[in-house]
Amino acid sequence: MPAATTPIAWAEPTAGIRLARADWLDAASSLAPGSIDLFYADPPFNTGAVHKGEAGAFDDRWPSPDDFLGWLGRRLETTIPLLKPTGSLLLHLDWRTSHRARCLLDDLLGPDRFVNHLVWTYGLGGSSPRRFARKHDDILYYCIDPDRYWFEPPMIPATSRRMRGQLKKATDVLDIPSLNNQAKERIGWPTQKPLQLLELLIGACCPPGGTVLDPCCGSGTTLVAAVNQGRTAIGCDIDGDAIGVTTNRLKNR
Ligand SMILES: C[S@@+](CC[C@H](N)C(=O)[O-])C[C@H]1O[C@@H](n2cnc3c(N)ncnc32)[C@H](O)[C@@H]1O
Repeated sequence: MPAATTPIAWAEPTAGIRLARADWLDAASSLAPGSIDLFYADPPFNTGAVHKGEAGAFDDRWPSPDDFLGWLGRRLETTIPLLKPTGSLLLHLDWRTSHRARCLLDDLLGPDRFVNHLVWTYGLGGSSPRRFARKHDDILYYCIDPDRYWFEPPMIPATSRRMRGQLKKATDVLDIPSLNNQAKERIGWPTQKPLQLLELLIGACCPPGGTVLDPCCGSGTTLVAAVNQGRTAIGCDIDGDAIGVTTNRLKNR
């Protein structure tokens, strides 16, 4: 007999957004195959810490990297069938596990579905007298069908003197500041990502009117960015405080 899945209590805090407190695995198991245009996940990174902020906390401790990769792999395997043939997947990790997650995705999807290894470079943190400062995260970009996936090159302000005032295509290195303590959009959820990053990714990888799925939505950055970009979105998080913060953020935007 197949295992019973936990029923998901989806809410609609604002038009076009479905949100639930749920484990990624249960939420993904409840969604229709072939219904998602863009999957973006910013899961725990296996940092070995409990991340705390004014708005909540989440536990990022795992017995071993293998346990973390097993947890991630089971969830990715369940999520991939939800993507449309024109769809894409973005997995946001860092130096601790991105190399192993890339092998995992090569196994699950095939290396020919790899599109980009995006580097999000930010200003804060990461310094040490014993090594180069760690100032970036890794975002692995895969598609379902290399001939059919939707992509619109994102345009960013040019910095060279020759092109001043013009736009140029973004490269695979995205130079976007992380949120500092004074940032207006700061909610106080630990490891909250900047809207600028998510708006760029969604604008590039999800067609207008399409649906984005974020299964570890935290403070709801992806969902707010989706609304701002004219997309619909589905989000969940295992943590009740995260769902409360996301609901308020969507209602007050
Ligand atoms: C890195 S944070 C996401 C931050 C988010 N991108 C933002 O901008 O606020 C990771 C999130 O994953 C959630 N999480 C951890 N395990 C989960 C699981 N099994 N299912 C769903 N969410 C989970 C945590 O509660 C946490 O909010």
